[in-house]
Amino acid sequence: MTATPRIVLLPGDGIGPEIVAAARRLLEALGEFAFSEREVGGCSIDAHGTALTDQVLAACRDSDAVLLGAVGGPKWDTTDPAAPRPEQGLLGLRKGMGLYANLRPVRPSPALISASPLREERIAGTDLLVVRELTGGIYFGDSGRDGDAAHDTCEYSEGEIERIARTAFESARRRAELGGHAARVTSVDKANVLETSRLWREVVGRVAGDYADVELEHLLVDNAAMQLVSRPADFDTILTENLFGDILSDESAMLTGSLGMLPSASLGAEGSPGLFEPVHGSAPDIAGRGVANPLATFLSVALMLRHGFDRAEDAARIEAAVDAVLDRGLRTPDLLGGTVVQPPMAEDPTPETEVGTEEMTDAVLQEL
Ligand code: IPM
Ligand code: MG
Repeated sequence: MTATPRIVLLPGDGIGPEIVAAARRLLEALGEFAFSEREVGGCSIDAHGTALTDQVLAACRDSDAVLLGAVGGPKWDTTDPAAPRPEQGLLGLRKGMGLYANLRPVRPSPALISASPLREERIAGTDLLVVRELTGGIYFGDSGRDGDAAHDTCEYSEGEIERIARTAFESARRRAELGGHAARVTSVDKANVLETSRLWREVVGRVAGDYADVELEHLLVDNAAMQLVSRPADFDTILTENLFGDILSDESAMLTGSLGMLPSASLGAEGSPGLFEPVHGSAPDIAGRGVANPLATFLSVALMLRHGFDRAEDAARIEAAVDAVLDRGLRTPDLLGGTVVQPPMAEDPTPETEVGTEEMTDAVLQEL
């Protein structure tokens, strides 16, 4: 036995504290962890005038893993370039912890297929992974106001592209091994317009030479956005830069019927702590009402166990427990979509039962 893993919890804003508290119960049920809870985002702005203090960043860098809820809310919305913004907390963590690889697996739970906005026959079999570059591109290039104009700069170096490409090819390989299918990477860029995209395509093509077993296709981002809704099941691993990945991962998430189901892992160099967070935001409209969906956070805990602590079995247990509670018909309000929907072809449909965060958490703990 090694030392007790140290996890920094960053509940953040909105529903963040509710879902992180639920995740803490889940982790406590799975083993022994040393938790330290810190502020990030809007709550940190209120307390310290900045979305991320040096102390919190240092604590995260010194931990074994970080679990983040969500940041932001209308209270801190501003267009004043000088005012602090909650999102700076998240971006500061990504940059400060060197988290260049963001993995967002999209695997619609069978019980939720009817909640997808796509027809069932289209969504069936969808199981994909978005590998998003997370510390470069337009998110971190020079930006500013010049008189009545503003600019944001997109920059990528060969090194930045190469390391994220390797993450994608390695992930595709692992997925192929586990899933018993061919390994495939779809690299998404805008090479018909952007110079950074032409460099992207060149470097990805070169890296592919080291992965002869992985099939590579290139798609332009507008086309990729379209193909994702017309033939989602044909995608396996999607490799893309920061901004395109932000957009395509929300689109992919909605394929599952709810953004409330999508987990994410942000990883840096081998051996450094990762950051794990649900993709959905802080949902200020439902904060504090006990109805937030904790499942994306639970699935993020599963990613933490798999990628951060090499505990793939515990990760699989969480994923199976989440599927099981959905099979039982338990739904937080976001999964109900306002009405009880059942696939018309289901022979013996399980009635859906509306539950809150706590009941959902109890049910998942029971299934474990
Ligand atoms: C995400 C979010 C963030 C991003 C925001 C909150 C800065 O949308 O993680 O996808 O744009 O990366
Ligand atoms: Mg986003």
